[in-house]
Amino acid sequence: MASGAGSNFKALLTQIEEKQLSAVCQFVIVNNGNCGAAQIAKAHGIPVYHISTVTHPEPVDYEQAFLDVVNTHAVDFLLLAGYMKKVTDSLLDRLKDRVLNIHPSLLPKFGGQGFFGIRVHEAVLEARLAWTGATVHLVSGDYDQGRILGQSVVPVFGGDTPEMLAARVLKAEHNLYWKTLRDYATSLGF
Ligand code: GAR
Repeated sequence: MASGAGSNFKALLTQIEEKQLSAVCQFVIVNNGNCGAAQIAKAHGIPVYHISTVTHPEPVDYEQAFLDVVNTHAVDFLLLAGYMKKVTDSLLDRLKDRVLNIHPSLLPKFGGQGFFGIRVHEAVLEARLAWTGATVHLVSGDYDQGRILGQSVVPVFGGDTPEMLAARVLKAEHNLYWKTLRDYATSLGF
């Protein structure tokens, strides 16, 4: 599931294509039909489902739309890759401990509502920390809570802008997500 440029999604696809990760990406759910992630999926022939409060204005229909997608495919894991909306409770219940998220900080630092994208890196620079990083965790009902599965530490340099820091952390994310998924899946017997 994605909302933005889709670089994490692309990195996962690359690892699958290069046979580092034994997986199949069956579909992508986006809340914005024009986002980069949707375009990457289409270019790879991967089905894209656009689900938002605009496409599904009724809350009941909105919740059901996600369930319909995962009921149509045999889903082992659902990965949030820059997905900026809250995951519905019914979807989390349906895929208990199988929904993963990547967050651009060392959780529990700089997590929770309001901490997403570039705002995370602005807050890290304001706090004058020497280190930041990325976290892959299970998704629970609250933003950026849930068991931490993997983290990667990234240095903060003097003179960093939020954009410079974001780019450094993003690189670490691309390396962290597929390895954490691989190790988590292995731990579950896949
Ligand atoms: C990534 O840095 C991801 O960790 C972050 O959004 C960016 C998406 O980039 N996610 C969050 O902040 C979620 N709370 P991408 O679209 O290029 O993968």
